Amino acid sequence: MSFRNLSGMATLVFSVLFILSSCVKEGPMGLAGADGVDGVDGKDGKDGTAACLVCHNVTTKSAVVAQYDVSQHAAGVATARSTSNQCAVCHSHEGFVEHTVTGLDTTYVGVAHPTDIACNTCHSTHNTFDFAKDGQDYALRTVAAVDLMLYTDHVKKIDFGNTSNLCANCHQPRNSYRVPGEGGETTYSITSSRFGPHHGPQSTLVEGIGLYDVAGSMPIPGTKSHPHRDGACVSCHMGDFKDGTGGHTWKASLNNCKSCHTSATSFDVNGGQAKIAALITDLKNALIAKGVLDAAGNLTKPGGKTISATNPLVLPVHQAGAFWNYITLIEDRSNGVHNPAYIEAVLKNSLESLQ
Ligand code: HEC
Ligand code: HEC
Ligand code: HEC
Ligand code: HEC
Ligand code: HEC
Ligand code: HEC
Repeated sequence: MSFRNLSGMATLVFSVLFILSSCVKEGPMGLAGADGVDGVDGKDGKDGTAACLVCHNVTTKSAVVAQYDVSQHAAGVATARSTSNQCAVCHSHEGFVEHTVTGLDTTYVGVAHPTDIACNTCHSTHNTFDFAKDGQDYALRTVAAVDLMLYTDHVKKIDFGNTSNLCANCHQPRNSYRVPGEGGETTYSITSSRFGPHHGPQSTLVEGIGLYDVAGSMPIPGTKSHPHRDGACVSCHMGDFKDGTGGHTWKASLNNCKSCHTSATSFDVNGGQAKIAALITDLKNALIAKGVLDAAGNLTKPGGKTISATNPLVLPVHQAGAFWNYITLIEDRSNGVHNPAYIEAVLKNSLESLQ
């Protein structure tokens, strides 16, 4: 202890004694003692919000919102379909939120004033905030395996094992009609001019199911077998936003293909899309030649009258199946990319079956 401190201490003791002994009146305040020495700085703590600010910042949000705004989810008009309880699950924010709670294929009632698929349709609440241990959940409303509506008893599920499960809830065929041949029948009655897998059969194709798997010279590849299934929807349709594609535009991005097809200059990798497009046209022409389709490419009207439950178009199962495959691949709109090997095999075998 230095002399200054000692004398400071002595002054202090003296002052206290003085105050205690003085019972008449306080004297003036003594001089303030000198400041003590500063303590050593503590170690910086970890910033509690650093992991959160990666996503939760204005720049990220503005960029995502700008991408979302040009997407078909935001710009499309299909929301209007949701006034029917058959359609609301996939065509509106309200219907989808209800579906994620009930797990049902339809909403209880139609949605009178449906709103677009927006941020909080897909995102809501983080499962945990422990991303280091539990992995990144992106606060997605659901990434659970998806029951397929196409199989009315829900016997088949899709589990891509990543965030693409979210997409499969909506981008799957509806349950309106059974896939021809599934019941082992030899003839099949088409009961509506709208026959087909409404309207987003992308998930089932990526999985390698949902077509009429007719036997022929090409072996049908097993389900889950194509490498394109690995990252599924999000690996081709999201990823980094580049050249107006990817990210939250959900437009397939050539940038994403290049991680595997390093020299790709278009989606038509090795002429794969052109090959499938030509096979789809060949199948259409074969269906016209068999009288399944009329010259305009629409299902032939039995007796010249509209197809209905009372006026069905009854076909040998392989012809109904070939049409099912044709209309599924038209609605898919990837010209084979969603599962090049499965789609090529089924198309070629369907053509052979019509010869
Ligand atoms: C990989 C991106 C990402 C990271 C990292 C992230 N979040 Fe989120 N978070 C989101 C998204 C997307 C949403 C839903 C959209 C929105 O509300 O902005 C969300 C929603 C939320 C919500 C509102 C919904 C809820 O869960 O109640 C809170 C609160 C939240 N985050 C807190 C955090 C915290 C705290 C951290 C860090 C421990 C964090 N977030 C890290 C992407 C992220
Ligand atoms: C709530 C149901 C729903 C979910 C979830 C959903 N979609 Fe969609 N998606 C739709 C509907 C409905 C449309 C058609 C919108 C329209 O045209 O109005 C659409 C359109 C699209 C389109 C554009 C098609 C076009 O005509 O250009 C792409 C691509 C797409 N979705 C990919 C995805 C991907 C990838 C995911 C998962 C990250 C996903 N969607 C999740 C319902 C959904
Ligand atoms: C299982 C989810 C699901 C249900 C249920 C559903 N849709 Fe869709 N629908 C979609 C998806 C996904 C798309 C977009 C597909 C794409 O862009 O390839 C779509 C697209 C459409 C389109 C635009 C495509 C076109 O060919 O013009 C119309 C119209 C449509 N749906 C009407 C309906 C109606 C009407 C109902 C109810 C009877 C309904 N949808 C029920 C998922 C669904
Ligand atoms: C159709 C479903 C869907 C909608 C709508 C949607 N997101 Fe996402 N979002 C996803 C999915 C899926 C991922 C995770 C992608 C992955 O696994 O790589 C994601 C990732 C994110 C991330 C983290 C990665 C990144 O891009 O920075 C943020 C932040 C985010 N979303 C914010 C938003 C906001 C804000 C909106 C509304 C403008 C929105 N999302 C709308 C499906 C959606
Ligand atoms: C291997 C990459 C890849 C995978 C995996 C993939 N897609 Fe695609 N998808 C494409 C390409 C390429 C197109 C054609 C885009 C074009 O021609 O502009 C496409 C087309 C589409 C379309 C029609 C869009 C349009 O603009 O006409 C929808 C909807 C779609 N995909 C949804 C999905 C969904 C949902 C999944 C997951 C089940 C998925 N895709 C998986 C690459 C992929
Ligand atoms: C994870 C790696 C991976 C990614 C990402 C990927 N592909 Fe592929 N793709 C493959 C493999 C492997 C094959 C060959 C499979 C086989 O032999 O059947 C293939 C086959 C194809 C074929 C068939 C080519 C042929 O020779 O018949 C097309 C077309 C194709 N891919 C397009 C795309 C497009 C477009 C994208 C991006 C939107 C993409 N791929 C992204 C791995 C990938």
